[in-house]
Amino acid sequence: MTSRNFLVVLSLVPLLSTFAHQQPFHSEWLDQPDEYEFKWPIHKVAIIGAGVNGLIAYREFTGAGFEQLRVFERDDVPGGNWHYTEQTPLDAPIPNADASVGDFVPSLPPAEASFPYQENYSEWEPRWREHRGPKPVWESLESNAPAPIQQITEIPWPTGTPWHLPHRTLARYLRAFASFHGANSNDANPDIAYNTRVELVEKRYDEAGQEHGWTVTVKRLERTGPYSSTAIWWTEDFDAVVVATGRYNAPNIPQISGLKEWAEKFPGSVIHSRQYRRPEPFANETVLVVGGATSAVEITREINSKALKVYQSVRAPNPYLPYEAARLQLKRLPANVSVVPEIRHFHSSNSSIEFANGTVILGVTRVIFGTGFRYSFPFLPQFNNLSDSSSPHPIVTNGTHLRSLHEDFLYIEEPTIGLLNMNWGMQSFTYAEYLSLALAKVWSRKAVLPGQATLWRKYEQRVAERGGYGRHLHFLGADRTSAMIRFFVGWLNDAAVKFGGRQIDGQSKDLPEISAAWSRARYAEIVVQANASTLGNDERVASFDWIHGEDW
Ligand SMILES: Cc1cc2nc3c(=O)[nH]c(=O)nc-3n(C[C@H](O)[C@H](O)[C@H](O)COP(=O)(O)OP(=O)(O)OC[C@H]3O[C@@H](n4cnc5c(N)ncnc54)[C@H](O)[C@@H]3O)c2cc1C
Ligand SMILES: NC(=O)c1ccc[n+]([C@@H]2O[C@H](COP(=O)([O-])OP(=O)(O)OC[C@H]3O[C@@H](n4cnc5c(N)ncnc54)[C@H](OP(=O)(O)O)[C@@H]3O)[C@@H](O)[C@H]2O)c1
Repeated sequence: MTSRNFLVVLSLVPLLSTFAHQQPFHSEWLDQPDEYEFKWPIHKVAIIGAGVNGLIAYREFTGAGFEQLRVFERDDVPGGNWHYTEQTPLDAPIPNADASVGDFVPSLPPAEASFPYQENYSEWEPRWREHRGPKPVWESLESNAPAPIQQITEIPWPTGTPWHLPHRTLARYLRAFASFHGANSNDANPDIAYNTRVELVEKRYDEAGQEHGWTVTVKRLERTGPYSSTAIWWTEDFDAVVVATGRYNAPNIPQISGLKEWAEKFPGSVIHSRQYRRPEPFANETVLVVGGATSAVEITREINSKALKVYQSVRAPNPYLPYEAARLQLKRLPANVSVVPEIRHFHSSNSSIEFANGTVILGVTRVIFGTGFRYSFPFLPQFNNLSDSSSPHPIVTNGTHLRSLHEDFLYIEEPTIGLLNMNWGMQSFTYAEYLSLALAKVWSRKAVLPGQATLWRKYEQRVAERGGYGRHLHFLGADRTSAMIRFFVGWLNDAAVKFGGRQIDGQSKDLPEISAAWSRARYAEIVVQANASTLGNDERVASFDWIHGEDW
């Protein structure tokens, strides 16, 4: 059977199923007597972001009986990352801005101002661009996970949907999901505030001086004319906050000697992948693309036919990641691309670039950093800190990873802050469903969280097991994703037996087969060509076993 036929056959198999009747499950710590006691009851919940994770959270929380729900979205439509626009993000700072403001610098009214506070401007486009943060998707981008895997279980793709999903299809799908739950920008739903960016989340104290939830300061930007706008700030109080802002907002441009001078000497020659939209501007240019993962490789594949020459700078693999996770994308590089090591120095004086092995190249006219993103929550300044010993414990440090989180989704020190989609190497559409349900249950007292001592102990154990702090800390991959989903299914189904609620199902049994077929189609031809004489069939498939998510 050809790989094409194989894909078609597999697209007809049943998808992830939603409900099942499973036996209650008891994990090691569920039987422990310690239970976390929330300091205040949770009635009002804020969700920051209306991407797929924020929308799924909205659905779960709507069904969980909270008194008030609010979703704040800085953009004017739902869909998050998948809202493609020609408008591009601003130039990334070189060198990187501090991770605490890597995404944006919070915009707050003067200290003496009272809320609501308003300012009027005689410009629109530059302010809107900064406020909404254009997303890092380019014109030709398609999903790098097959449709049966990249879906919300409630609305499976219709039978026959091609496995490659253009970004516009995904955007429509997410808008449809939002509409289904009355959360689209044209639904006039008072729960949802579009064009509204969260600038600050700070601890709230009641009249008796006791901690009682969070005060959220937001800013809405409204267009008032072709070249005018108004900003309005106000605050709202909540008992718990869901951070669903995604992990691809703050660009990462590594600190490289001579880069700042190069960017200043050749204005416009250095961009981050989030600004890339199409290949034409790179026609007849000599391009250095930095990075060895999806953005870097996919952009190289696209510009390669137009550019004069493309170099790809790839650094040594991270030893704490599975080798395939760090290297798989490189199998998609066109043969005429020259792979070079990590950059040592940009010499703007003679327009040369020197690499870690001493190689020097001349004539590079454009540099594209496909070097990923950093975790950044500018609205949580009190949890941005470089030191573990600081109080409160930090969430964001240098942007490569997050700290102090239970299973990467719940802030241990104040478990009324939940974070969605902070892992990678998993499928963010499907994983969101488990995390959102867990938050909704824990906060509505329909599931029990262990005490903080247990949470810290498990956290430290997990950090040690995953090789310490760094980008690898939040990598799941297939085995860990499956284990985590089993954990959530067990925990939440057990809680449903005790406290009521629906039983949920785990991963589709078809997932490994779908993944293997997709991976063969996407990568194996290249691998098999390269290794035909050395690998048996089983080995070729086995080498893709770690894959489940969008990070192929
Ligand atoms: C170039 C690229 C390609 C990708 N391709 C794939 C793929 O093929 N398959 C796949 O599964 N995944 C892919 N991903 C991962 C992608 O992030 C997820 O698919 C998904 O969009 C994550 O959803 P999310 O809701 O967590 O975050 P997002 O989709 O990023 O949504 C977050 C939302 O929060 C809003 N927001 C941020 N800050 C604030 C604030 N302060 N106040 C209010 N609102 C705020 C943003 O405007 C945004 O709407 C890709 C990512 C990138 C960068
Ligand atoms: N659907 C699509 O076609 C598509 C396209 C683009 C992106 N995406 C998704 O978007 C997300 C982000 O992907 P991304 O590729 O932008 O970011 P990423 O996955 O974080 O990859 C960043 C890459 O840059 C490398 N890097 C960092 N610093 C470097 C340096 N100094 N020199 C050389 N290399 C350096 C990293 O190497 P290390 O591994 O050593 O850190 C890594 O290879 C992923 O989920 C991805 O799947 C999807």
